[in-house]
Amino acid sequence: MTKPDTIWKAKVLTLFPEMFPGALGLSLAGQGLKDGIWALETVDIRDFAGDKHRSVDDAPFGGGPGMVLRPDVVSAAIEAATALAKDLPLIYLTPRGRSLNQARVKELAKGPGAVLLCGRFEGLDERVVQAHAVEEVSLGDYVLSGGEVAAIAVVDACVRLLDGIIGTPESLAEESFETGLLEYPQYTRPQEWKGRTVPDVLVSGHHEKVRAWRKEQSEAITRERRPDLWARYAADNA
Ligand code: ADE
Repeated sequence: MTKPDTIWKAKVLTLFPEMFPGALGLSLAGQGLKDGIWALETVDIRDFAGDKHRSVDDAPFGGGPGMVLRPDVVSAAIEAATALAKDLPLIYLTPRGRSLNQARVKELAKGPGAVLLCGRFEGLDERVVQAHAVEEVSLGDYVLSGGEVAAIAVVDACVRLLDGIIGTPESLAEESFETGLLEYPQYTRPQEWKGRTVPDVLVSGHHEKVRAWRKEQSEAITRERRPDLWARYAADNA
């Protein structure tokens, strides 16, 4: 495998740099990090606080619960992080963002990397989002304690697509979302387990029948679980 001249870079702006590499230091992503297929850098937002208490947040104007990350502090951290990485998209992890999907993950993985801004508390002063070209990204309709776990998920999803990370790239071609459908069910040995057997077709040796069965299963599961994906698939394949 020839290595690209520039490696995929993740720069994470966070109040908790100790949370990294975390899960990204293990398994496929961890091996890729050790092999120099991608690089990870954390920037501690607190290093950009201006006062002796190193404060990064303050009460929201207009009142209400919680604290808001100060625009001057976060902006200084963004400027420092992006000074040498102007080509990296700046992603702010927030439940208010657009839902991440595999299509966006693929685009990010094809690019030079990403700067990932992790929020905490009630959020980030809106002026930071306006002042910088920020893409707001959500993992889904639920609230995490902060953006760090979401940033780890985004980086993991991108890194596994980089050349040299997955030994058998064919396995990427059939996984969920690649065909617009959820993946079919998988089985392995033993052929009978606790009275449950494997579908006959999978041990029949008929490759064409196996393919047709898997497609049927993928379609049925998608129709039942994800009407949104199913509607798009049905329209695209009409
Ligand atoms: N931060 C808190 N909740 C989040 C979510 N659902 N997605 C992305 N970032 C978040």
